Amino acid sequence: MAAFGTVFMPQMTLATFENSNWSSPELVSSDSIQLHPGAHVLHYASTCFEGLKAFRHENGSINLFRMDRNIERMQQSSQLLSLPAFDASFLQKMITDVVKHFHNDVPKPPGSMYIRPTHIGTEAAIGKAASPTSSSMLYVLLSPVGDYFASGDQTLRLLLEEDGSRCAAHMGMVKSGGNYASALQPILQARASVNADQVLFCPNGDVQETGAANFLLIDGNEIITKALDSSFLHGVTRDSILTIARDMGMTVSERELSVDELLERAAKPESEAALSGTAAVLAPVGTLIHKGKEIPVGDASPGKTTLKLRKALNDIQWGKAEDKHGWLTQI
Ligand SMILES: Cc1ncc(COP(=O)(O)O)c(C=O)c1O
Repeated sequence: MAAFGTVFMPQMTLATFENSNWSSPELVSSDSIQLHPGAHVLHYASTCFEGLKAFRHENGSINLFRMDRNIERMQQSSQLLSLPAFDASFLQKMITDVVKHFHNDVPKPPGSMYIRPTHIGTEAAIGKAASPTSSSMLYVLLSPVGDYFASGDQTLRLLLEEDGSRCAAHMGMVKSGGNYASALQPILQARASVNADQVLFCPNGDVQETGAANFLLIDGNEIITKALDSSFLHGVTRDSILTIARDMGMTVSERELSVDELLERAAKPESEAALSGTAAVLAPVGTLIHKGKEIPVGDASPGKTTLKLRKALNDIQWGKAEDKHGWLTQI
């Protein structure tokens, strides 16, 4: 199977912002774009993106999951990066148009169509280090994806990083390329030094998130995760899992979680930990690595509650359970 995100539908929808106006979106080839080498994005990183999925139900219908949330987050990212604004309905139409065009290619469960809206600053102006781009390009790429869990339910190893941070504190809630670039070196070092899968960033002992997912600690009937602030990404999966957990009668605690408390709770036999994100859904964490010590989470196997929550979310996405929060948009 091809690696996640390496296969693309041959066309995408694209619109440009020039002279204070958005062009009408068009369906164009997805294998290239034309960009001036001096484009603002290439020098001053005026770029943001989103990740959401379309699911095929048994009756053949195609359903987008919580598209409104991803569009809202992209509008917020664009605003915080001083990229041109757009209406939610504008991007919504670009997404639905391109998914409709390729509806026959949306994989069956456990696969899905991953949707990648992208917004970049295109003005050719290398003197604009301290000024926003006056032009931009917005496009929506599609990538069919298979079963992320094809290799079975392995658990993840996370290195707790207390000294560094994933990105600048005020940029955490922006889904921007620079944040991922800034997290790469710590992640590569963690892989090489302790064979960790991911780094759990815990600046000054405050448990935050990994390079591309939110972190949840499950202790019996309680689920604990950092309360929203501007320092980390407000995951749509995080919000969905917390909502499902509340529906199941669990106690949801959105608050600060220190590394000390995490390590203490993780050692309990009934504890579980998981990473939430659009790609991984809810991935079980088996081991925390801290100051050279390996701490198993619970019994280090995929947690029962983690698997139950993941199935509950998948069942809604795949149309096997009632969508009582109205998260799906059928197209
Ligand atoms: C840094 C970061 N945190 C959290 C998430 C999870 O967000 P979501 O559940 O909206 O995919 C992602 C993935 O998109 C991410 O890149």
